[in-house]
Amino acid sequence: MKSILTNIFLSVFLFPLYLHAIQVSINNLKPRLDVNGVIIDAHDGSIQQFEKNGLYYMHAMQYGLCEEPPNYGCDGAGMPSKCGFQMDHNISIWSSPNLTSGSWSYVGNSINVTDRPAGVVFRPHLVYNPKTKLYVLFWNYMRWNQPSLYAVGIAETPNGPFKLVNPALNVSRGASGGDFDVFVDDDGTGYIVYSQNYYMSIEQLTPDYYYSTGKSYMFDEYFVEAPIFLKKNNIYYVLFGWCCCYCMQGSGVLVHTSNNPMGPYTLQTDGDLACVAKSNTISTSSNALPTPNQGCEFHNINTTSIARSQQNYIIKVTNSSGYTTYVWTGDRWQQAPDGIKGHEPQFWTPLTFDENGKIGKMNWIDEFTLDV
Ligand SMILES: *[C@@H]1O[C@H](CO)[C@@H](O)[C@H](O)[C@H]1NC(C)=O
Ligand SMILES: *[C@@H]1O[C@H](CO)[C@@H](O)[C@H](O)[C@H]1NC(C)=O
Ligand SMILES: *[C@@H]1O[C@H](CO)[C@@H](O)[C@H](O)[C@H]1NC(C)=O
Ligand SMILES: *[C@@H]1O[C@H](CO)[C@@H](O)[C@H](O)[C@H]1NC(C)=O
Ligand SMILES: *[C@@H]1O[C@H](CO)[C@@H](O)[C@H](O)[C@H]1NC(C)=O
Ligand SMILES: *[C@@H]1O[C@H](CO)[C@@H](O)[C@H](O)[C@H]1NC(C)=O
Repeated sequence: MKSILTNIFLSVFLFPLYLHAIQVSINNLKPRLDVNGVIIDAHDGSIQQFEKNGLYYMHAMQYGLCEEPPNYGCDGAGMPSKCGFQMDHNISIWSSPNLTSGSWSYVGNSINVTDRPAGVVFRPHLVYNPKTKLYVLFWNYMRWNQPSLYAVGIAETPNGPFKLVNPALNVSRGASGGDFDVFVDDDGTGYIVYSQNYYMSIEQLTPDYYYSTGKSYMFDEYFVEAPIFLKKNNIYYVLFGWCCCYCMQGSGVLVHTSNNPMGPYTLQTDGDLACVAKSNTISTSSNALPTPNQGCEFHNINTTSIARSQQNYIIKVTNSSGYTTYVWTGDRWQQAPDGIKGHEPQFWTPLTFDENGKIGKMNWIDEFTLDV
């Protein structure tokens, strides 16, 4: 009797816990595949779970099966444009229950090319607005000889399709936007962190997130882009690195912290998390060349990124006991083994935080285990 009760107890109360303790392996040497075994064409986007035990969603750029320019990643930026600068790139939606290679299912297109303002799209980022109960998608689009802008679209689910609600988010520092991230605080207030003329700013959004309130904070560093804005244990973190226009050597990660989303922010001591002496980095099979004076090289010509990538996004992975791993992701521009832009890989690594919230330096890792 006792053992039957124990068995019932084990199966009813404990077994579900074991079921949720799923250990997966994340590999940085192999391409990430979809459920059909095809390389996922998904770059510079957001990766997140909206419900406990729910699917992870990726809203990311599809660059297509275009062959890379031979030298520097932005060689094709002029007209006629090359792989990274086409007008028909899609903001693709992917989902996965466990983040592993082979687990990604294609959900669809966020918004048809003909339904969005014409331009070359970068860095789509999705957030959920708890006040309006809508999913809000932001993207940056570049137009030839005109300022770059941020567009805002909405949908009732992360599956889209998204409807354009604002073709030009009115951030106060001019209209020419670069890379950005959007952060939603615990009280539902939204903030955009964005680069403009190579400087980074934060701006508070209106309650629906369609506009900027104009309330802003500006950082000191020059020639920076690719920000991430996050909160952990009541510390606000803004991470960004030196400009790296599809640069294959990758860039750095400067950490700024504050106890207020609007700052003032303090630069974490001991410098960049990712830029290291060139002799310390792994070699790649790519034929591409590092773009001179960009990424880590901008700050110190003798350094390069240990992650061989430019910062993209931090995935929050919470296990069944409520412990969250912060998985940093970076885009490995120009490093597709076959030279196809859509096949460029990403580097993923868990971040380490000390007891004061200081983030540890990065290392290259071939593979790691993640508790999803
Ligand atoms: C969740 O992660 C923490 C930290 O690694 C670990 O102590 C805990 O056992 C994990 N929980 C489960 C259910 O795996
Ligand atoms: C974007 O999607 C459209 C429609 O599905 C497709 O024709 C086009 O090739 C896609 N673009 C890229 C770069 O894959
Ligand atoms: C991850 O999800 C995929 C797709 O649903 C599934 O085939 C695979 O078994 C899962 N992996 C683990 C370790 O649960
Ligand atoms: C996008 O375009 C395709 C092909 O023209 C069409 O079938 C689909 O309904 C469109 N999607 C939306 C959301 O308008
Ligand atoms: C942006 O537009 C909204 C809506 O018109 C307005 O409330 C807000 O003040 C504007 N922000 C700036 C920075 O001009
Ligand atoms: C880079 O290395 C060269 C050669 O060792 C040295 O002369 C130069 O000062 C170094 N530059 C920096 C910024 O450290």
